[in-house]
Amino acid sequence: MNKVNLQTIGKPIAHDSARMHVSGTAAYIDDIVEPVGTLHLAPGLSDIAKGRLISIDLDAVRAAPGVVAVLSAEDIPGRNDCSPGFGGDPIFAEEEIKFHGQVIFAVVAETRDQARRASRLAKIEIDSQKPNVHVEDGLKSGETVLDDYTFIRGDAPAEIDKAMHTVAGKMTVGGQEHFYLEGQISFAIPGENKTIKVLCSTQHPTEVQHLVARALAQPDASIVCECRRMGGGFGGKESQAAQWACIAALAARVTGHPAKMRLDRDDDMVTTGKRHDFLIEYSASHDEKGIVEAIDLELNGRCGHSADVSLGINDRAMFHCDNTYYYPNLRVHSRRVKTDTVSNTAFRGFGGPQGMVFAERLMDQLAIKLDKDPLTIRKRNYYSKGRDVTPYGQKIRDNVIRQLVGELEKSSDYKNRRKQIAKFNKKNRFLKKGISLNPVKFGIAFTLKHLNQAGSLVHVYTDGSVQVNHGGTEMGQGLNLKVAQVVAEEFGIDISRVQITATSTEKVPNTTPTAASSGSDLNGMATKKAAEKIKGRMIDLAVRLYQADKKLIRFVNGEVDLGNQTIKFSELANRCFMERVQLSATGFYATPKLTWDRDSVSGKAFLYFAYGASCSEVTIDTLTGEMKVDRVDILHDVGSSINPAIDIGQIEGGFVQGMGWLTTEELVYDEDGRLRTHAPSTYKIPTCSDVPDDFRTALFVSKGNRENTIYRSKAVGEPPLMLAMSVFSAIFHAIASINPGQIPELDTPATPEAILRAVDGMNSTDK
Ligand code: MTE
Ligand code: MOS
Repeated sequence: MNKVNLQTIGKPIAHDSARMHVSGTAAYIDDIVEPVGTLHLAPGLSDIAKGRLISIDLDAVRAAPGVVAVLSAEDIPGRNDCSPGFGGDPIFAEEEIKFHGQVIFAVVAETRDQARRASRLAKIEIDSQKPNVHVEDGLKSGETVLDDYTFIRGDAPAEIDKAMHTVAGKMTVGGQEHFYLEGQISFAIPGENKTIKVLCSTQHPTEVQHLVARALAQPDASIVCECRRMGGGFGGKESQAAQWACIAALAARVTGHPAKMRLDRDDDMVTTGKRHDFLIEYSASHDEKGIVEAIDLELNGRCGHSADVSLGINDRAMFHCDNTYYYPNLRVHSRRVKTDTVSNTAFRGFGGPQGMVFAERLMDQLAIKLDKDPLTIRKRNYYSKGRDVTPYGQKIRDNVIRQLVGELEKSSDYKNRRKQIAKFNKKNRFLKKGISLNPVKFGIAFTLKHLNQAGSLVHVYTDGSVQVNHGGTEMGQGLNLKVAQVVAEEFGIDISRVQITATSTEKVPNTTPTAASSGSDLNGMATKKAAEKIKGRMIDLAVRLYQADKKLIRFVNGEVDLGNQTIKFSELANRCFMERVQLSATGFYATPKLTWDRDSVSGKAFLYFAYGASCSEVTIDTLTGEMKVDRVDILHDVGSSINPAIDIGQIEGGFVQGMGWLTTEELVYDEDGRLRTHAPSTYKIPTCSDVPDDFRTALFVSKGNRENTIYRSKAVGEPPLMLAMSVFSAIFHAIASINPGQIPELDTPATPEAILRAVDGMNSTDK
């Protein structure tokens, strides 16, 4: 359990870059002073979604002002692929065009403007074919990027066949553009003997290093990838930052100059993958109290033209189709639908949110059918004693949802407000209100076991200051600060004595992506181990030099209390140097207990679960479809928080991002497979004015994670995004109030248009 008197852990310390972020002094890649001779890149994109390349004439591009080189597939000395594993993601198109916006070539010019202008001058002939654009098109063609996968418990179809009470439904869950404020960018700087250093805005420097090395046919050791920070990643830079790094590195190799590839926002939106949209179909049976008996569920995720990381994403949708509910019989079948569109990729929640939206829809539907408070139906279906094994065979041992929801129900005054809302809806003809309290449970671990590892490198200098390097990347989530807090705590020094540095493959090698919310779990633990090694050596020296009693030695307040005397931490550090004791160490951590085996659908997939709940109240205008979120109450479980300020920031930010996904952000593709919403003019992310006026966030008070995670904390990066489901459910119930008993037809995102359509679909004479 927790050490007593923690000094730094648990304190609401501001993000280490907060002041730099707001004053514009935090260095992003495009802020780094460019060496003389730096060249700039722009991609040449396909404006056809599907077809065969017949000819490419780049003469006019080459002749354009400032152009130094034009690169295409034949210039790649090594492998023309930037996929994270399964292949099928060429850096430059070869014969086949797979989606609108695919990169065919890249221009290297003296300025970025010259490169962009020249990129428009190519004459490209493509034998174009009709693309499969939507998930339905892909289903019709039957093509998939990976094999189907199924979890089965009991015999759901047979149970549903013979059941007294059944429901069925179909819904689409929309995709989402990451809209990181800093777009994709890579800056490659050539060194001697073919070495290249790539500065890349990536969640996965090691993968970038490896893919650049493969493309250039060079050893991994000749490439360094470094990332100080990202201006947001959200999953969009987990696998899909690599292509731009490969192109920049190739330009550096070919020209011998530093080369920078920064995507224009529209190009970024068109050429990089998004959250998978899903078509979900289900039938289910239940008893007269609304308790689920059996579910037969089809999850069809639109993967786009290649597999990318769709294996894990579609699996995670399956792992989360239960949310906090026990399904005695379940058949969930997942199709990884192939379409001729951009390859969809990781996005906060990694498929989990899409699966969970189904669970919440089912609860809402049962509540309307049985004319019950949806929260009552939810509670009846919670995992509970004897009903605590997930459909994928993991026993849930840390379930706090009943207590957590109970507390939120009280603090949000849910019951009273629900009554008031019913009154409001009776009185008001055009404005309708809805309220919903939804739970969230999210599994923590990469379901690909080998990714659950991390390394760290800690240096103590003789003045007692400390530098930390770890394998994780900073994207705004506060990982570096949390890791620095771990170091400060271990050495008993002030956080200002800990220097955070850029993530680099030459400091900590063979890392895994910063993803699956496990950044602080993994890198915090690896760093603690490194610090403990150094501390152990310092203690041994102190015993030897000062005849201190080992058991009494404490590192606090920048000092080392030896029991018989107190010396400065810096003094002991310096003594270590004089006595030739090593002040640098590596740490390594591999998450224990994970035994998930995908082939046999058995074992333990997650180390633990993160829980939370939110209560949202909305008002809709049934004449215009406009919607306003009136109040949001959140209670979220982060175990023992390492940093409550950072955690609350993650919870509120995640919630608002989830709200955008479920209410305003709509990706529209035309029949030719072109994304029509490729700029903020047509793609509506939430702004600060969309943050609920009345927004109450609290951390669930508990004894901490029952698993031995870093200071008993829980991962926080992704789970809060799903708290926004209460907004969607509240809208659903506001619409349902028009004609009690009728199930509204509402898909996500619930844009004003979608709300208006659903309102129009309600059978009411009072419209
Ligand atoms: N928070 C900010 N500010 N920016 C981001 O890009 N990414 C999210 C989440 N929170 C993100 C963020 C995603 S998708 C993940 S997986 C986690 O942070 C990753 O960081 P962690 O593992 O350190 O929590
Ligand atoms: Mo987060 S989607 O796991 O990068």
